[in-house]
Amino acid sequence: MYTIRTAEKKDKDRLLEIYASARKRMAEGGNPNQWGNITPREELIDKDLEVGRSLAVCDGDVICGVFALFSGADPTYGYIEGRGWLNDRPYLTIHRIARADGARGVFDAAMEYCKKRSDNIRIDTHRDNAPMLHLVRKHGFKECGIIYLANGSPRIAFQWTSAQEAERKDTMDLTLEKAKELNKDMVTEDHLIIHSLNVCYAMGAMAEHFGEDKEHWMAVGYLHDYDYEKHPEEHLQYTEEPLLAAGVSPEDVRAIMSHGWSIINDVEPQTDMEKSLFAVDELTGIIQACARMRPEGISDLEVKSFMKKFKDKKFAAKCDRELIKKGCGLLGMEVSEVAAICIEGMRQHAAEIGLLGTAHAEA
Ligand SMILES: [Fe+2]
Ligand SMILES: [Fe+2]
Repeated sequence: MYTIRTAEKKDKDRLLEIYASARKRMAEGGNPNQWGNITPREELIDKDLEVGRSLAVCDGDVICGVFALFSGADPTYGYIEGRGWLNDRPYLTIHRIARADGARGVFDAAMEYCKKRSDNIRIDTHRDNAPMLHLVRKHGFKECGIIYLANGSPRIAFQWTSAQEAERKDTMDLTLEKAKELNKDMVTEDHLIIHSLNVCYAMGAMAEHFGEDKEHWMAVGYLHDYDYEKHPEEHLQYTEEPLLAAGVSPEDVRAIMSHGWSIINDVEPQTDMEKSLFAVDELTGIIQACARMRPEGISDLEVKSFMKKFKDKKFAAKCDRELIKKGCGLLGMEVSEVAAICIEGMRQHAAEIGLLGTAHAEA
């Protein structure tokens, strides 16, 4: 259990240490630009301490995390691009949140602290900060648009309100069973059901790779082409409303919508789940085509053979290589790396997705 207290000047060295370790983790985790080598600057930390807005998240006497809590209008929040802030009421803003190496639940503790003190909270983060994007969404923040720091650098802006929290309580945790129930009358053609399963199992494997919730990612994968069979020409235009009405969370609906990015909408994949879905949607198509030709199906399909077919543009020509490359690029991974994960995930369900191979085909 953490306690939270105002940080004091004597804590400064420990705060510097925590910020340094956070910068290192951010850079290693694919987010080198948000804080670079110097943010937050020492003068800023001094200022936070001086005015008493720096808060220490403590386990006993040990400081495990830190954040700066502001009340009053944030000058960088005056201009926002996109849907806009949820309201104009006074709000708290969380800045510069960081945790020590190995400390868990610092963000949760900070959120609990802030939610007790205000029903209106704003936060912003860098698009490459996947862990933070995950946390703010998990805590019910709504994406409001893009704001720009004083130096012009864009950040994704989020807002949380208690009213929205109440609304969110009505949403469900999306399980694979629920995804199947939702798809039941919408996806009925065999080849589309197989595609849903392919993406579902590939997403499960990607979740394992990222240490995330496997069943949840599988469910999102299974549901991603919810409206395609009924509305092939208007794909994803009949997804948002019915799924939200059915209680699927806005975050999950957003994830589904984002697989149409740059093709049929502008919902850019931001989280690892969204980027993975974008990458594996087409990728699983080529894996399936490869495995189907082989006597032993997917069971002995190696990444090397897959990559050969991937590079052969005439093979499974309908599967867009550029989209796959784009998706893998978003993840900062090679196509072969993502393919290896997906093949493994699909292999475990070879019979169900019809990939046992020509030698085992039913007569
Ligand atoms: Fe789709
Ligand atoms: Fe799809």
